[in-house]
Amino acid sequence: MKSGNLSHRSFIALLLAAGAAVGLPACNKSSGPDQGAGSSSGKKILIGLSLDTLKEERWQRDRDTLVAEAEKLGAEVVAQSANSDDTRQMRDIESLITRGVDVLIIVPHNGDALTRAVKSANDADIPVISYDRLIMNADINYYLTFDNRKVGETQAAYAVERLPKDRPARIVRIYGAPTDNNAKLFKEGQDAVLNPLIKEGKIEVLHEDWALDWKPENAKKIMNAAITKAGTSIDAVIAGNDGTAGGAIQALIEEGVAGKVMVIGQDAELTACQRIVRGTQSMTIYKPIKDLAKRAARIAVDIAKKNPPTVTEHLSNGFKEVPTILEKVIAVDKDNLTQTVVADGFHKAEDLK
Ligand code: BGC
Repeated sequence: MKSGNLSHRSFIALLLAAGAAVGLPACNKSSGPDQGAGSSSGKKILIGLSLDTLKEERWQRDRDTLVAEAEKLGAEVVAQSANSDDTRQMRDIESLITRGVDVLIIVPHNGDALTRAVKSANDADIPVISYDRLIMNADINYYLTFDNRKVGETQAAYAVERLPKDRPARIVRIYGAPTDNNAKLFKEGQDAVLNPLIKEGKIEVLHEDWALDWKPENAKKIMNAAITKAGTSIDAVIAGNDGTAGGAIQALIEEGVAGKVMVIGQDAELTACQRIVRGTQSMTIYKPIKDLAKRAARIAVDIAKKNPPTVTEHLSNGFKEVPTILEKVIAVDKDNLTQTVVADGFHKAEDLK
C-alpha cells in the first residue's frame, strides 16, 4: 500500500468519520506526483468498491485481491461494506460518487434495490461494474461473475450421482438469500438437473426454503424444520453456500447424524474444506476468486482510461443486455482437494488437517 500525505492511521480515521470504513486495504489517495495509472483526465485512477458484506470468508479475499491488483496497476481503491443493509449500501455508493471515483465496482446486497444508486452514478458519468451479483434494472457497464447456473448444476449433478437408486432419494434444499439474484441462478441450475427426477418420483424433496441474508443460523432453522417434518433419514442436503451448509451441519450434529448425510455447499471456505476432510461435508464448489478479482481491477482501470474491453457474452438485467464475463467453477470433494484448492494456493495443505 502506498502512503501519501495522510498517515495510514489518519486515513482510516477519515474513513471512519465518513462512517463507511471496512478496514484494510482501502487505500489512501496519493497526493504526490502521478506515478501510476492515469484516468483520461491524467489524475490517478480511483476505484470505488461497494461490498454487501464481509461475512463470508470469500469477500475479504475478493477485496484484498482486487485492491492489490489495482495498486499494481497504479490505481487506488476505496472499499466499503454495507453489512447487508440496503440503505447503508446506497449511502456508501452516494459517498463514493461524491468522492469522485472514476469507476464503481458493486456487489449488491439486494440486486433490485440499487437502481437509484446506479442512476446517480450514471448522472455523474461514473461507469459501474456489477461484481459477482447482478444489479437488476439499471444501466450498468459490465457484469463479472462466475458461471452461477453451472454452480447449481454441478451441485445437483454431484448429489444425483451418489443418491440411492433403489428407492426415492430423500433430499433437503436450502437456498440462499432471496434478495440475491445469484441464489435464484443457483436454484435454476439445480432445478435443471433435479426437476426431471423429482417428476419421475426418483427424488423426494422433504423440505426447502430460502435462508434470509445467507445466514448460517437461518439455514440451521430450515434444517431443524426439515428434521421435525421428516425425521433424520435424509440422503442429501443441497445448501446454497458453505455458510448455510455449516448451519445445516450444526443441526445434523445436534441430531447425531452429521457425516451420515451428504451435504453440499459452495465457496471452498476453509472451514468447509476442513469439514470435507473430516467427513461432515461432502462437496463444495471452488470459485477461483483471484481470477475474477484481478480481472475486475484490470477492467476498471481500462474503463477509466477510456479503453473499455469488448465482451461477447451478454446477460439481461431487465434494463439491458449487460456485457458479461463468466469465470469457471470447479467441484471439490475429498478426492481432489489437493489438486484444486491446495494446488491453486487457495488453502494451505497443513490448514486442512
Ligand atoms: C455468492 C456466494 C456467496 C453468497 C453469500 C453469493 O452471491 O456468489 O459465493 O457465498 O453470495 O455471500
